[in-house]
Amino acid sequence: MTGGPLVVLVGPMGSGKSTVGALLAERLGAPYRDTDADIVAAEGREISDIFVEDGEERFRALEKAAVARALAEHEGVLALGGGAILDAGTRALLAGRPVAYLSMDVEEAVRRVGLGAARPLLAVNPRRQWRELMDARRPLYEEVARVVVATDTRTPEEVAAAVLDAL
Ligand code: S3P
Repeated sequence: MTGGPLVVLVGPMGSGKSTVGALLAERLGAPYRDTDADIVAAEGREISDIFVEDGEERFRALEKAAVARALAEHEGVLALGGGAILDAGTRALLAGRPVAYLSMDVEEAVRRVGLGAARPLLAVNPRRQWRELMDARRPLYEEVARVVVATDTRTPEEVAAAVLDAL
């Protein structure tokens, strides 16, 4: 596939997509873009408000449209929201793309994102929800990924270097 992003980052909340994405953009001398930010800009409201006001299904439809737009327009580093891979249409858009999955185990997720997370999907019983969320999503991340980089024991700089090495 020609054109489109140089790297697409997927992975759970807290896996470092935005930090690593910014580092990769710097190293590649390319712009950074993030579909969550695109959605907030297009909708004029926060993602948590979209979840509360319109529900997750509507958010995933907005997200699929944002991913399609970014894949068509953006030639730098692109980070997707942690749940973008839940939508089969969004996964299909990623076929053939240079997708890196930043993986993270559940205990590290709890350490990094915390138990009282302000993120909409972790409001009740966060530890169990993390485990269920990771079990459901892991195969979907693996399905779209060209490379998998474990972030648990790596610094963001090391993760960025591993992504560049592997892609
Ligand atoms: C979500 C992750 C968030 C954001 C939304 C839903 C998810 O993105 O898209 O809150 O379902 O995991 P980050 O992974 O950038 O935090």
